Amino acid sequence: MNKMNVSSLPEPTVLVTVNAEDKKPNIITIAWRGVFSHSPATVYIAVHPARYSYSMLKESMEYVINIPSENLVKLTDYCGIVSGKNVDKFKETGLTPIPASIVRRSGL
Ligand SMILES: Cc1cc2nc3c(=O)[nH]c(=O)nc-3n(C[C@H](O)[C@H](O)[C@H](O)COP(=O)(O)O)c2cc1C
Repeated sequence: MNKMNVSSLPEPTVLVTVNAEDKKPNIITIAWRGVFSHSPATVYIAVHPARYSYSMLKESMEYVINIPSENLVKLTDYCGIVSGKNVDKFKETGLTPIPASIVRRSGL
């Protein structure tokens, strides 16, 4: 059997959490993400400017990539359908924002 090409494996959709001054923490579902570099470790996400999260990201320049487990599949879809402009996604999903240890703003 040929060696499997790792780049052809399915990769997970992620839940990206964002926060900004005077705003509630938000969650956006992202399929378009990846690794720029292993050394230094650098990841990227692609967020359309029309997303509410985009303005939060532009302001804070910080985000956290969360890899959802299988039991969060519906919730991952939900966060990719509704906007944080209209809905508190943490409240609606029951997910809890907790302070990050190395990201500046709390609640990411
Ligand atoms: C499975 C899935 C993957 C998605 N991937 C992306 C993505 O890579 N980039 C993006 O800008 N939007 C993506 N979206 C759309 C956003 O998650 C969606 O527009 C979301 O409601 C934006 O939330 P916000 O307005 O709170 O920022 C995806 C949606 C789904 C369901």
